[in-house]
Amino acid sequence: MAIISSRPQPANSGEPPKKARVSGAKPTGKSLSHRDLLQGAATIEEQQEVPSNQQNLNPQEEKIRPQRLEDYIGQKDLKGVLQIAIAAAQGRNDPLDHLLLYGPPGLGKTTMAVILATEMGTNCQITSAPALERPRDIVGLLMKITAGDILFIDEIHRLSRMTEELLYPAMEDFRLDITIGKGQSAKIRSLPLPPFTLVGATTRVGALSSPLRDRFGLIQRLKFYDLAELQTIVQRTARILPVEVTPEGAEEIARRSRGTPRIANRLLKRVRDYAQVQQAAQATTKITQEVAVEALELLEVDPLGLDWTDRSLLQIMIDNFKGGPVGLDSLAAATGEDVKTIEEVYEPYLLQIGYLQRTPRGRIVTDAARKHLGD
Ligand code: ADE
Repeated sequence: MAIISSRPQPANSGEPPKKARVSGAKPTGKSLSHRDLLQGAATIEEQQEVPSNQQNLNPQEEKIRPQRLEDYIGQKDLKGVLQIAIAAAQGRNDPLDHLLLYGPPGLGKTTMAVILATEMGTNCQITSAPALERPRDIVGLLMKITAGDILFIDEIHRLSRMTEELLYPAMEDFRLDITIGKGQSAKIRSLPLPPFTLVGATTRVGALSSPLRDRFGLIQRLKFYDLAELQTIVQRTARILPVEVTPEGAEEIARRSRGTPRIANRLLKRVRDYAQVQQAAQATTKITQEVAVEALELLEVDPLGLDWTDRSLLQIMIDNFKGGPVGLDSLAAATGEDVKTIEEVYEPYLLQIGYLQRTPRGRIVTDAARKHLGD
């Protein structure tokens, strides 16, 4: 578990956003008694000095993450819906309704949760389902919540059943139901919680149980970004890093970013490294289209953004399975990739650009993909 404390930032102040309070914790222990559950909360507090999963919270990432809704590029429909929800909740002095964000990885679900907290003037507590394995983990988090806080749970489709069941009354009635004792003498003790907003994120909305899905007032999908949006994101990140990039250089990086800001920002950093080394004799580093193409070719990112794994996935389907249909398990076995990685990371973009088709009998490679591979 990690916590970002996000406070309102002045709009368009031109100043760098105030540093978020970031800490992490690794839950421990097994017992489920009331006392233990409460002690669990204390344990989590204590363990905040031992960060465990801050991988998505490193300071470099935080610097380039937009802080306000107006700085967030793309996802126009989502922003429209959230702007109304924020204004309405603020008008009533209520917390935001619980929100479920779904879509492929890297499109900005965590970023949006942090922005919502900033816009609402509250804290954002960030965790992910695998860090909430035991009931005491979610109890510890809920007991720390203050009124209006946003609790962000990434990969929410992976919650354990007991954790999920603790969340139902917490979401619906701001109540924590703790079972004390075991068997026939077990009693439920209810503790009131301050009103809060749960923001859940998932790459697999279909994997959520319906009782959990039904408790979200807003369910929103994040879409892949278009070329112009990604180019603007690359230019914005380049200004923050800082590194000089021409519009054509930014467009080249954007074109190869598979519709995904996280990839665009990663490629920009790799191209910056390349440009810096290539232009070591010059006073400044400049990313032109030519430099971007050279660097991305070296990284084996092709003009459509496909990398070695994408191409090998498609090629194996053609060579070993006559282009399909092929089931996910067979594909995973043939490529040595994990089923979930294929399904959640590689497949969405290949489907989006029409290189793969999903049929009831399995996946099929399209003619467009064959042409791209030169088959
Ligand atoms: N960095 C990553 N995603 C972004 C977005 N949607 N807008 C602005 N900057 C970003």
